[in-house]
Amino acid sequence: MTIREIITVPNPILRKKARKVTEFGKEFQTLVDDMVETMRNAPGVGLAAPQVAISERLIVVEYADEVEGEEVKPKLFIVANPEITPTSDETELGIEGCLSVPDLIGEVERFTSLTVKGQNRHGKPVRIKAEGWLARIFQHEIDHLDGIVYTDRTDKVWKPRSEDEIPLD
Ligand code: NI
Repeated sequence: MTIREIITVPNPILRKKARKVTEFGKEFQTLVDDMVETMRNAPGVGLAAPQVAISERLIVVEYADEVEGEEVKPKLFIVANPEITPTSDETELGIEGCLSVPDLIGEVERFTSLTVKGQNRHGKPVRIKAEGWLARIFQHEIDHLDGIVYTDRTDKVWKPRSEDEIPLD
């Protein structure tokens, strides 16, 4: 596995609509493994293929729901060709950062509850229900596949003080 370089704005690859994944062969498996390693190394809770300069519809997400006083094992999601369906009209504001937009965080409105449909690393259908912070991460990552970065969705962006840094992807 290799840690790949994470590109940052204004790299035009981050602004392209990524193409559908149709081949789940060896090259794709290497990309998946490299993205997981790159996300963990960053560290981040998610990464989209365009962030490593590959304009394909693939995201990886690794996140542990916080349960007070308990250690929760992070869950890894690998989704090709992900599509979101909100399961409620409810939205909430939350603070996001992005590995491709260094030294900034911002407040973004997102759906609180949704279903992600797509394919796993072998091309088999997957369906994931997500709420709260996990739902936010999926919305942030899938935006990257459409050339959208979170700063497009808010006017409230600022430089974090070191103690309120929020790594996202
Ligand atoms: Ni991002």
